[in-house]
Amino acid sequence: MSTLTKVALGMMGQLRPKPATGASAPAIALPPPRKHGGVPLAEALAKRHSSRDFAGKALPLPLLSDLLWAAFGVNRPDGGRTAPSALNAQEVDVFVALPTGAYLYDAAAHELQLVAASDLRRVTGYQDFVDEAPMDLVYVADHRRMGLVPVGKREAFAYTAAGAIAQNVYLFAASRGLAAVIRAWIDTDAIANALGLSHDQQVLLSQTVGYPKAGR
Ligand SMILES: Cc1cc2nc3c(=O)[nH]c(=O)nc-3n(C[C@H](O)[C@H](O)[C@H](O)COP(=O)(O)O)c2cc1C
Repeated sequence: MSTLTKVALGMMGQLRPKPATGASAPAIALPPPRKHGGVPLAEALAKRHSSRDFAGKALPLPLLSDLLWAAFGVNRPDGGRTAPSALNAQEVDVFVALPTGAYLYDAAAHELQLVAASDLRRVTGYQDFVDEAPMDLVYVADHRRMGLVPVGKREAFAYTAAGAIAQNVYLFAASRGLAAVIRAWIDTDAIANALGLSHDQQVLLSQTVGYPKAGR
């Protein structure tokens, strides 16, 4: 769908998901993440960049598993995560829009839980490439977990935490030869509706990840 069409539909509150392609499994068990390998950090930093040219090819499950763990997985026995959060509120949820459905990443169980049996990719942003790239991540703050954070700081801290997650994803992508772009040009209401979010949940940012289009 073109950007113009999406903007017009968004203004009418009509930007909606597509039917899912294939079966929407209620849960997807992710294989254990590989916590070794990849290029050295300095090399990943040297390669990190935003890309908006994606091939449609799906990411294999082991790669998706590694990516989500790098993004915001559990990396310590006490439940600590790969990205920081103010007062360890861990208020950001990572949703994953796949052709088969939209899923919540459950970091503790390291699995995906179905939240919507439809293809939400085109709802995750106005830019046309988000429809066809194999996966869009959506970062959502759950304000109910930020009870200890001063009210006036909650939104800023949630965006900061989401930014750290997004940079993990960028570095992972650079390390594995994937393309990625963080996006704020999104219809937050359309995404919230499609994901069935509550009033306590705030859509922050979206990030597209996939294989780079050939020749890019
Ligand atoms: C908060 C934030 C919002 C952004 N929103 C978008 C967006 O909606 N669409 C997009 O294509 N790029 C978006 N970007 C990516 C920037 O355009 C990109 O980071 C910038 O051009 C620098 O390029 P680089 O990431 O390759 O260094 C965003 C970046 C940030 C940090």
